[in-house]
Parts: sequence; C-alpha cells; structure tokens
Amino acid sequence: MKATATNPKTNSWWRGAVVYQVYLRSFADGNADGTGDISGLRSRLPYLADLGVDAIWVGPWYASPLLDGGFDITNHREINPLYGTLADAELLIKDVHAQKMRIIVDLVPNHTSMHHPWFQEAMAAPPNHPVRDRYIFRDGHGADGSKPPTNWTSAFGGPAWERSADGQWYLHLFDVSQPDLNWHNQQVQQEFESILEFWLELGVDGFRVDVAHGLCKDRGFPDTNHGSVGSPHPQTPDHAQRPYANHPFWDRDELHEVVRRWRSIVDKYGDRILVAEAWVRPERLPLYIREDEYHHAFNMDFLESDWNASELAQNIFDSHARVATQGSTSTWVMSNHDVMRQSTRLGLPPKTDWRRWPSQPCKAPLDAVLGARRARAAALLTLSLPGSAYLYQGEELGLPEVLNLPTEMIDDPTYQLSGQMLRGRDGCRVPIPWEVSGPSLGFGRNAPWLPQPAEFAHYAVAAQTDDPQSSLSLYRQALALRKAWLNDTDTFEMLDMGKNVLAFQRGNSFVCIVNMGIAPIDVPVGKVLLTSAALINGQLPTDTAAWVISTDSAGSTSAL
Ligand code: GLC
Repeated sequence: MKATATNPKTNSWWRGAVVYQVYLRSFADGNADGTGDISGLRSRLPYLADLGVDAIWVGPWYASPLLDGGFDITNHREINPLYGTLADAELLIKDVHAQKMRIIVDLVPNHTSMHHPWFQEAMAAPPNHPVRDRYIFRDGHGADGSKPPTNWTSAFGGPAWERSADGQWYLHLFDVSQPDLNWHNQQVQQEFESILEFWLELGVDGFRVDVAHGLCKDRGFPDTNHGSVGSPHPQTPDHAQRPYANHPFWDRDELHEVVRRWRSIVDKYGDRILVAEAWVRPERLPLYIREDEYHHAFNMDFLESDWNASELAQNIFDSHARVATQGSTSTWVMSNHDVMRQSTRLGLPPKTDWRRWPSQPCKAPLDAVLGARRARAAALLTLSLPGSAYLYQGEELGLPEVLNLPTEMIDDPTYQLSGQMLRGRDGCRVPIPWEVSGPSLGFGRNAPWLPQPAEFAHYAVAAQTDDPQSSLSLYRQALALRKAWLNDTDTFEMLDMGKNVLAFQRGNSFVCIVNMGIAPIDVPVGKVLLTSAALINGQLPTDTAAWVISTDSAGSTSAL
C-alpha cells in the first residue's frame, strides 16, 4: 500500500520532530538536594543538542505538593521551588532556543491540587456557592447522602468521589488530592486561556496537554455502564479498555469546543503546538487533530502493541492513514513516565500485562537480554516512521525498568490507592545515571530521591559515550541519519518482506526492515546505513532492525 506525504500545506517543525521528554525530577540535580531541577537540566542541554533531538518536553514543573509527581498543581504560573524559579524557567527557554531546539511544557487542565487556592475556597464555602462551581461537587445518594453520586471510579483505583466535611462529594478522576475542574464553568475556561497566554508570552513552543480526553463530564451524571470499569487510563487495571461511545467522563464531544478556543490562542503566536495525551479508541483520535484542534495526539496503541510484526504493521498503517485524513502526522511513542521502560517490557512473554506484572507474586519470566535487543530494534523502527517521535529520558541509554525499589520509597499514589496491589510507575522514573560512580552516578552530588540500582552504572552516559556499540551511540547515529535521509514530504509504503518481518519504505530508496521472526533474513540490496545488532553472514538476525538505502525495488506492496 502506498500513502503519499501528509504535508501538502506546511513544513512546520513539529510534523517530523523528535521530542525528548524530560522528567525533571529525575534528569539532573543542579543544587544537590537529590531532586532534579532546571539548573541541572540547563547544564545538560549540550548533551541533548548533541544527541540530536529537535525539542524537549518538560513535564509539570509548577508549584505542587507532588502528590502525583507534579500533576497536582497549586499555581500554574509559578515554578515549584524544588525545581527553581520563574527566572530559571526563562533562562532555560532561552538556552534551549540558543541550542536550536524547542521546548514544550505540560498543561494540566483536568484537575488541580486540592491545595490550590480555588479548591481551598470551595471547601470553605457552603454547598451551591459559586466558588464551588469551579469544581464538581454533588450531593450523595441515600437518605443521608452517604452514597457517592455515581459509580464512577478513579483511574488510580477506588471511587472517584470523596465526601467533604459538609456532606457533599467532590469528583477526582485521579488521586483524592486532584479534584476535577468543572469545564462548563466560565472562570475555569478563562483561567486556562490566560495560563496558555502566560507561557506563550514567556516563549514556550507548545504544550503537551495532560488527560486531554478528560475535561468535560456528562452533566446528567449517569452511572458508567460497566460498574467499576471505564477508566481508559494507563494507571488503571482496566487500561486495555477505551471509553465507549458517550462515556460519562472520558472522550466527550463537548471537550473539542475547549480545544478549539485554545488553538485559536496558540495560533496567534506562530508555529507553536498542542499535543494531546488522549487515551481513546484509535478511531476517535483523528477528532483530536482536526485542523483547528490539536496538532498532534500520541499514538498510545503503538506502545501497547506486542512485539509482533503483523500487529505493529497494522497499527502503523492504520495510524498513518487516520492522521492523514486530518492533514497531520503520526506521533510515535515507545515509552513515557507512566509506562514500563521498553527494554524491560519487550523482554516479557507476549500478552503479559506489564502494568500488573511487577506486582505479581508468580511472574512470567523476564528475558532482559531479549528486551534490550528488541528495544534497540524498536528505536530504529520508531525513529524512521513518518511523523514525529517522542523519546523518554533514559531510553537512549537502554535503561531497564527498576523493579526492586524498596516499597517504603514508592512515591506513586497508585501504589497506596490500589491497596498496594500495583507497584506503580516509579520504576521508570529513577534518576538518570550520568557517571559510572559517585553518590548518585552523576545525577547530582547527593543521594537521589529514588535510589538507583548498582547496575545503572553500566548504563551511565559516561560509560556509553565512546562505545560505538552502545545504545547511546545507536540513538545518536539514528538521529543524525534521520536528519540526513528522511523528510517529512517522503512517500510512505509498507513492504511485504515475509511473515514476521516489518518493513516499509520512505521516499525512493530508504527502507527500514525489522526481523521479528526467529530465522535470519536477507537484507534488501543496497547500502546498509545502520543496524541495531550486527548482521550475521550478511543476514539480519532475529529481533534486529536495519536501515538500508535500497538499490532494489525488492518489496512488493503489502496487502494488509
Ligand atoms: C497523566 C499523566 C500521569 C498523571 C495523570 C493525572 O496521565 O501522564 O502521570 O498521573 O495524568 O494527572
């Protein structure tokens, strides 16, 4: 099958950008307090420029008690003092631009922290007072109102309603400390428009919008169809579910009006972007990237796919076709701060529920070597697909998931909220090893907020920099070759090179081929630019990817 370029009108930077996600708390600690910060990040910008990424995305860095890693905000215009000051943020924005990169930041509009002044005001006010209308307060059921208003459950586990002292209940689709905002309230709408303007004025190049499929709730407050089910969110045990049509709180049609207003603001500032984190059914995703809405929406189904050529090929083809209907490009993601790192995930047996796996007493066996090998192949796959790619800090080092964090150190609220059933997401949030020794392997000068396992020393940037076989070298080469050979306007064609082989062509001659079968396969005739593992007798071994400039019209069009 052949699809032509999806970029007839513009050549905006974001369409084919490689964006590097910085989890600030764990990237680099500049002031030796054990927590990553803006000054640490500024000191490491040359590393990112050298790696060759086009942009960085910095997660929520706003004032917050960090009860959910900063996705619980008390002031959207202030930087958390743990990370620095607003002046530091401005310096960072300047530095990033000086390095010819862009910077996007998080917008968290579904909820605030319970310590946000608005929520404090709401809790102090009597029922039905206008200041309560910024959030979602309801009377409970039953004669004494002691039953929650609906059967809705939190994405982190347990009921989504909490009773306040005066008897009314407030909605929190996430932690109890994260009350949901009422997006039908005008003040809420105006406040977020003003927050967008604030950061655009400071020079950010866009926003990754948290829980973009949340925001609007059915004002009739019906129960969900499935009782406790209905939380299509990464943290929930029901993650495989995507919201059904007209779900009471996920993926509602009304939310798009909000997005259109944001888009009109962002457009006033030139080539800046809105990226949606929307865990919705794949066929609903194009709605988010309509011409006057988001620029991009993460393709989470790519990340959720098993290591299986036909499943991935189908996902790639569908995603590419869907975004093309809206004139956008796909957004490929292999990992982020909410999911198990790919070099561990890909070493688990097929169909393993990797969110539950770390907490299971009898675990399917992990093949760490296999996972690392596949993660390298996955990097070449992700970085040659048409569209934009989002990398998560540390994936370029091949970092594994940390599986043995002491339970008393676990910070992720999902641990407690799941009744300690799920260990949560901290295993991918452990601070980056920069050096092979030292109290925090170069992350900072003191012990880090989450302990690094001893094996992290082998993954340190310093250990990998001069090793041509390292994961870091692979990413560096891939990013340089991507710039040299791949273009947003390339045609894209899936190739049929046999069962268990994922292959596609970009433009006239660039071929990416991934062998997901057991037997070695032939490499297309041409110049081999890069492989994720050495060829054996000129053939591509199992779980290996190659980039080839083909001099052969080898592949026939696949009939997916
Ligand atoms: C998003 C974030 C996640 C956070 C949740 C609630 O899914 O990626 O880390 O816990 O929203 O804000």
